[in-house]
Amino acid sequence: MSATQPAIALRGVTKRFGAITAVDRLDLEVPAGICLGLLGNNGAGKSTTMRLLTAQAIADEGAVEVLGHALPRESKAARARSGVVPQRDNLDEELTVAQQLEVFARLYRVPRRERDSAIARALELADLAARADTRIDALSGGMRRRLLIARGLVHRPELLLLDEPTVGLDPQVRQELWSLIVTLRDAGTTVVMSTHYIEEAEELADDVAIMARGRVIDRGAPAALVARHAGAEVRELTGDARALAHAETQARALGLPTRRRGPQVAVLRAEGLDGQLGPGRTRPAVLEDVFVSVTGEEAT
Ligand SMILES: Nc1ncnc2c1ncn2[C@@H]1O[C@H](COP(=O)(O)OP(=O)(O)O)[C@@H](O)[C@H]1O
Ligand SMILES: [Mg+2]
Repeated sequence: MSATQPAIALRGVTKRFGAITAVDRLDLEVPAGICLGLLGNNGAGKSTTMRLLTAQAIADEGAVEVLGHALPRESKAARARSGVVPQRDNLDEELTVAQQLEVFARLYRVPRRERDSAIARALELADLAARADTRIDALSGGMRRRLLIARGLVHRPELLLLDEPTVGLDPQVRQELWSLIVTLRDAGTTVVMSTHYIEEAEELADDVAIMARGRVIDRGAPAALVARHAGAEVRELTGDARALAHAETQARALGLPTRRRGPQVAVLRAEGLDGQLGPGRTRPAVLEDVFVSVTGEEAT
């Protein structure tokens, strides 16, 4: 692959399900070697986008290219060079960890003489070497997730696609998966990960594409998105409903974006405000402020 060829290129891609437009004229390019976070609430179109990248879904309009292969025509070639980690755990309960990896090594046509080393490497990466002979139904939840990732990696893909990799996991297991994803990215694998957890995107992604209603509405490094949309500081105002409504009007008049959650009002780009909108507290701006500001939706 040439240095300038993107790992993924979607151009004007639309995918409809009956009357629902799940992906709407989507443009998305991902350079090789980065971790891209596809961030959006439920229904934003993240899973459909991921499925378009594996040709599990076929675009109604537009062009999809993965590692230089045009989909769906060249999906076989693209699949051979990509790894997929599904959101739903579909491991084979009755197999051992090593057997499960063996099944996938064959499926991905890893040459016989390389199979053992490929499996050993995947076990090592996912920190499962000590569990090679454990039956899958005896694994903890965290180990199962790591095995799902190992299974997607056994053929050394250049691109790893993860759909909501940590949904429903406890914080410690999430942390383990995060470090695994960082290790892969650092080793040169391009990672595309969908998530509705803002802190996950903020922590892991070199670049975040914020999705809403089937489109990417902004894109950039987390810190750059925060600086662009929320500035350095956010002022969370306190007071009664009337005072807050008044402060909100004032903030807007100053050209400052505001965020409302129930009766609360937060003013973005509040650095330099010097307390002039009334009592409250000042905190650093975060990606969640950006998300709410650009999508008009609270994170769910
Ligand atoms: N197979 C399908 N049939 C009908 N509607 C679908 C299908 N897949 C997704 N959708 C709809 O498309 C929209 C986007 O869904 P999805 O891509 O799953 O979003 P996300 O992963 O961001 O939650 C939603 O309105 C969803 O209900
Ligand atoms: Mg989804």
